Amino acid sequence: MKNLSSPCCQATILLLPVLVIILSLCIAPSTARYCEERECCLGRDDDCHMPYPALVPNTRCYCDQFCNRTQTDCCPDFWGFCLGIEPPVPIVRGTCCHDGQDIEEGKSIKINCNRCHCKKLLYGFYGFQCESKVCLVQPEVAERVNVNEIGWMAANYSEFWGMTLEEGFQFRLGTMKPTAVVEAMNEIRMDAASLDIPEEFDARDKWPNLRDEVLNQGDCASSWALSTASVASDRLAIQSNGTIAMALSPQHLLSCNIRRQQGCHGGHLDRAWWYLRKKGIVTTDCYPYKSGMSSDMKMDKGSCYIRGEQAANYCPKERQTSDRYFSTPPYRISEDEEEIKAEILMNGPVQAVLHVQEDFFMYRSGVYKHSKMAEKDEQKAAGWHSVKLVGWGVDKTSGKPIKYWIAANSWGKGWGEDGYFRILRGKNECQIESFVVGVWGKVDPDMINGNNLPV
Ligand SMILES: *[C@@H]1O[C@H](CO)[C@@H](O)[C@H](O)[C@H]1NC(C)=O
Ligand SMILES: *[C@@H]1O[C@H](CO)[C@@H](O)[C@H](O)[C@H]1NC(C)=O
Ligand SMILES: *[C@@H]1O[C@H](CO)[C@@H](O)[C@H](O)[C@H]1NC(C)=O
Repeated sequence: MKNLSSPCCQATILLLPVLVIILSLCIAPSTARYCEERECCLGRDDDCHMPYPALVPNTRCYCDQFCNRTQTDCCPDFWGFCLGIEPPVPIVRGTCCHDGQDIEEGKSIKINCNRCHCKKLLYGFYGFQCESKVCLVQPEVAERVNVNEIGWMAANYSEFWGMTLEEGFQFRLGTMKPTAVVEAMNEIRMDAASLDIPEEFDARDKWPNLRDEVLNQGDCASSWALSTASVASDRLAIQSNGTIAMALSPQHLLSCNIRRQQGCHGGHLDRAWWYLRKKGIVTTDCYPYKSGMSSDMKMDKGSCYIRGEQAANYCPKERQTSDRYFSTPPYRISEDEEEIKAEILMNGPVQAVLHVQEDFFMYRSGVYKHSKMAEKDEQKAAGWHSVKLVGWGVDKTSGKPIKYWIAANSWGKGWGEDGYFRILRGKNECQIESFVVGVWGKVDPDMINGNNLPV
């Protein structure tokens, strides 16, 4: 609640007599429970409805048009009930109150992802009339997630505040749904039954040489390039016994793997792996990630600086290697949970495709599963993303054990659990087990001795 001593909220005290007048205006003569009968606006003061022809003929406040919670209606419980705020400052001053500040009539401000104009509403009240886009951070969804104790907690990320849900899907994902060709890719069977698979495992513990960097794609739908480069780096480090512990450059992939790829508008994983196999990529030190990280580079894949064989001269600083690193063809791992575990245990982190739904952006900690806390269809959306699975475990903090995967996301270290998230395991949550890919780094024995360039 607002500080009463702030100037614009003192004015609410002046409002009281006005509210009384409005209340008496609002009480309708009929005894019928207008809203209750129509099962709308439950929880509102049902006595307070009245014909509202001023705006829409044959309309009553609340029930017909005005319970959409984006603008005022005739009843004084609107601001408190629908918006959870104090009533706007009216009358004499011609201003609206937001966060303890007076906003003049005609001016607008942005509240989360919506622009709101201060204007004169009914009965001399001033209030905001807002756009009604669905925002990426939906505080009411986050609140329901947190209150209902569903196994994970949601947070309000400042970098997502102010974005629309649509922008989240457009800017922060970026993996094309695997095509039929890819889905038909050869599956490798690990023969998991013959292995002694532990209850918990984290590749970062088994292979301390992994460059455990959490990437940030910024405002560019490039998860296809980031997850591919990241898995390729890990696999090279593992297969070279830690001698090639390089972070490979997602920017190189993003800017140069352009054939039938969409850059910051998304890409296909099979084509990214094709590029790694045929052309190879340099390290991040040599070709740093810049797309989406500044307003200049928003949704910009950047130009490709390494064409043909000219890599040798590209690296900005001396002594940085301009060597390219390659992979073998990727292979698909069976959807079976045990097979995926066996692959990570034996060969290292894998790439997985995730069908992201609206609440995932707000994940803070715990074991994620889609919450279904967004009630209205327009609050929902889904899109394809790719991430890196590094291990698994069982959460026993809430009594009932919950199995999870540990995955690295590409939204920076400030998101989730230090850039990672845990997600329900064994239920194909958000398709996480449907399309899992492994790959061998191409390790030339000479490279390990430091003598030679990769082929
Ligand atoms: C809310 O109601 C107003 C007035 O009828 C309408 O203009 C607006 O589009 C509605 N918003 C939503 C989200 O339904
Ligand atoms: C969310 O974070 C933004 C930016 O840090 C802040 O302005 C806003 O008030 C927060 N919203 C909620 C509901 O906590
Ligand atoms: C890595 O080490 C293992 C065990 O010491 C060895 O068998 C393997 O050949 C080494 N790999 C490479 C690429 O040298």
